[in-house]
Amino acid sequence: MSRSKRGILADDRAGSVRGVTEAQERLEAATAHLDPPFAVIDLEAFDANAADLLRRAGDKPLRLASKSVRVRELNRRALDAGLRGVLAFTLPEALWLAGHGFEDVVVAYPTVDRAALRELADGPARSTVTVMVDCPEHLDLAVAAVREAGGGPILVALDVDAGWWPLGGRVRIGAKRSPLRTPEQAAALAREVLARGLVLDGLMSYEAHIAGVGDRPPGRLGVLAGAAIAGMQAASARELAARRAAVVAAVRAVAPLRFVNGGGTGSVERTAAEPAVTEVAAGSGLFAPTLFDAYRAFTPRPAALFALPVVRRPSAEVATVLGGGYLASGAAGADRLPSPVLPPGLRLDHREGAGEVQTPVTGEAARQLRVGDRVWFRHAKAGELCERFDAVHLVRGREVVDTVPTYRGEGCAFL
Ligand SMILES: Cc1ncc(COP(=O)(O)O)c(C=O)c1O
Repeated sequence: MSRSKRGILADDRAGSVRGVTEAQERLEAATAHLDPPFAVIDLEAFDANAADLLRRAGDKPLRLASKSVRVRELNRRALDAGLRGVLAFTLPEALWLAGHGFEDVVVAYPTVDRAALRELADGPARSTVTVMVDCPEHLDLAVAAVREAGGGPILVALDVDAGWWPLGGRVRIGAKRSPLRTPEQAAALAREVLARGLVLDGLMSYEAHIAGVGDRPPGRLGVLAGAAIAGMQAASARELAARRAAVVAAVRAVAPLRFVNGGGTGSVERTAAEPAVTEVAAGSGLFAPTLFDAYRAFTPRPAALFALPVVRRPSAEVATVLGGGYLASGAAGADRLPSPVLPPGLRLDHREGAGEVQTPVTGEAARQLRVGDRVWFRHAKAGELCERFDAVHLVRGREVVDTVPTYRGEGCAFL
């Protein structure tokens, strides 16, 4: 089965053309009253993805990576489905979520936002929001905020590097995140946390090169590249399991830890299997953007799509839609482009890609498109799609059952 035809929508029967056609027909029926551009979330796919993530996590809790959703209503839906707690992406977001009743919010990335730290120290979120630290400067900022706000101590968590450094460290694989790597380094910062009157709440180490890199990449060399990626990931996971256990033991000797968080959508079962890990994070698997088609261990159902209108026909082979240049972050490459998925048989123009104000699509199906038709796309990543739309339409079956604001629609562009 070709990748472009696999799992396009919830009711895509194993990629059959009939399934694809049904999926489009259903979406068109649900949204006939809307004028594109607009974005939809297929609730059946979203709920099935949440259930599958929970199944993969086994008996370990799953914390919601909210950057990969960015819709308050859908954050809530994921928690109602059984995810527990939020892994937020900025402190202002965490404060905002706490103000809306979300509990147990851990900010996954360090903050140097002094006003937000003061607000945290001084307000009710202090008992529900935890900030990430990996160096003494982060502690200085937290302590200064507590002093200036006249508030109580802040909850902090240590971020520990999860990268793989084979060949005696001459090769370094993994995201460039925390400088903390060894049990000794982590324990030393844990002692600093206590010495400064802050509260050590948890520990996190995110293996981006395992959780965020698919081992079934598309393309001519996909099989070979996939085998190499899988080998790298297996070796790294072995090293990480031992080191993470040693780091956790060393830090626990300094102070108790409420949580040890690791992993992401691409590594849920593997990370959950580590005894030292108490919970796993995941978010992207709910929307299932195209980058998450490339994993062998799981096949999420695409839940997030956006529709763009055909506005012109420059030639018989090409249809041009309005907008579309919604590129995903990361190292620039074809895999960061959105994909036209419905009708099946479309592709982007390799010279123009996805454009700022218009996007030509070609391929067999382009010949049939008329001005006013819609083309349905998937984004390469999850939550970033929501920075392009004020609202998402929630589709169930052949109906839009609700329309809810994205973070952007609530006036909240946190990043
Ligand atoms: C700290 C952290 N944990 C977990 C994740 C996994 O999120 P997702 O499941 O959306 O890939 C990420 C993603 O970048 C992350 O930065």
